[in-house]
Amino acid sequence: MQDILNQYVTVTEDAVKEWFRVGETTDFPENSGACIKYKSKQIAVYNFSRTGKWYATQNLCPHKMEMVLSLGMIGDKDDIPKVACPMHKKNFSLEDGRNLAGEDLKIATYPVKIEEGNVYIGF
Ligand code: FES
Repeated sequence: MQDILNQYVTVTEDAVKEWFRVGETTDFPENSGACIKYKSKQIAVYNFSRTGKWYATQNLCPHKMEMVLSLGMIGDKDDIPKVACPMHKKNFSLEDGRNLAGEDLKIATYPVKIEEGNVYIGF
């Protein structure tokens, strides 16, 4: 199980080696998540249109190793944009992936850029 988790490592914008196009902005539902595949990884992409921001994280919830985060509700907690896992409602920051209850659970995050209506995720 740890092997699956080890595939997902946070990428910061200045460490991007490849910008991978995942579709057009209109392919992604507003204020919601969608799942895309990059190599063997499942990545959740969030179109937070309420704030005009985009986020990407691993789709794998580290709590019970379920590929479900793209189905989670997005919102904010104390001004931190977050996703709530649909299984047991654990909240993760969309900015840095930390568990907002301070639990020792973290998800990988990836930068997103929008260019000419296309959505790119940085790996
Ligand atoms: S599987 Fe995500 S909170 Fe339990």
